[in-house]
Amino acid sequence: MILLIGATGLLGPHVVEKLLQNNYSVTCLVRKSSNASRISKLEEIAEKAGKKISLATGNLEDTDSIIPLVERADTVVYMVDLERTELLENFLYASRCAGLKRAVFISSTTVLVPLKSTVKERKLKSEELIKNSGLCYTILRPSMIYGSVDDNNFSRMIKFIKKRSFFVTFGRGNNLIQPIYIKDVAEAILSVINNSKTYNKIYNIAGKEPVEYNRMLEIVRSKLKKRFAVIRVPVRPARFLISIYATIFKNPSLTPDQIERMSVDKAYSYKEATRDFNFSPLSFEEGIEKLIKELD
Ligand SMILES: NC(=O)c1ccc[n+]([C@@H]2O[C@H](COP(=O)([O-])OP(=O)(O)OC[C@H]3O[C@@H](n4cnc5c(N)ncnc54)[C@H](OP(=O)(O)O)[C@@H]3O)[C@@H](O)[C@H]2O)c1
Repeated sequence: MILLIGATGLLGPHVVEKLLQNNYSVTCLVRKSSNASRISKLEEIAEKAGKKISLATGNLEDTDSIIPLVERADTVVYMVDLERTELLENFLYASRCAGLKRAVFISSTTVLVPLKSTVKERKLKSEELIKNSGLCYTILRPSMIYGSVDDNNFSRMIKFIKKRSFFVTFGRGNNLIQPIYIKDVAEAILSVINNSKTYNKIYNIAGKEPVEYNRMLEIVRSKLKKRFAVIRVPVRPARFLISIYATIFKNPSLTPDQIERMSVDKAYSYKEATRDFNFSPLSFEEGIEKLIKELD
């Protein structure tokens, strides 16, 4: 049995779909507080595939609730943000108690961004804990994931453009991005689960090739078949304005550090992933076309 921790997130349903299509027996950890519609989505996917999934209630904050589930698992796919190092520590403790052998972890290319940040430090610390855990691990580091109709990046952007016919960007837009289509992440997880070449290794996974931010806007414009204005705000004034906004609002949706990170090149080599598990992702053009069709 494969236990999915983080199945009620954005990536989870796509992983459930892939695993069921490949006849794995799947158990999803859900919390008492998990969104009911996210849980129904998992059940719908199973029904559509003509398969059954088990839902088990637990919480990483309570290791006693996790240990019996981990005991029954052959492999765990851990999709909870590695920024939450304390939750990972609880999982690793539960794994030791349960005698778990194999786990796949989803980290992020954030750890490669050449800027200092607490998020990056925490994720790197989590990766170190995994490496020293004694588990047979594989860590996948996806770049920005898109392709889910309710994600906070390209879906939000497309919905915004459709409604308002303009879009605000920060900086000159000549930086590179390399987002990964969500089904390619799910496929990568499926490919590494039982692949001994990937044991105790870390892989970057990203879209087919890097795209300049301005080129990404052109692609969106042509695939959306809609004209929209682009309002460009230079990085320094944007940082200043966002820092004021971030001090006024308690949970700001944008922080000054994020503005800085947006203007940095984010291009990644995934040649080790191609070598070891034939990773062959969609281009941004192909992925965004699929998302736009889904959002119609
Ligand atoms: N989204 C991206 O662009 C992106 C890019 C690179 C890497 N990643 C990584 O990919 C993974 C999946 O991302 P995602 O966007 O699907 O994440 P997400 O939507 O934020 O989902 C997070 C999941 O973690 C679960 N969780 C949180 N606290 C928990 C706890 N105490 N006990 C048990 N479960 C808990 C949530 O459960 P509830 O539903 O109960 O809250 C949810 O299922 C994460 O590791 C993320 O860091 C994401």
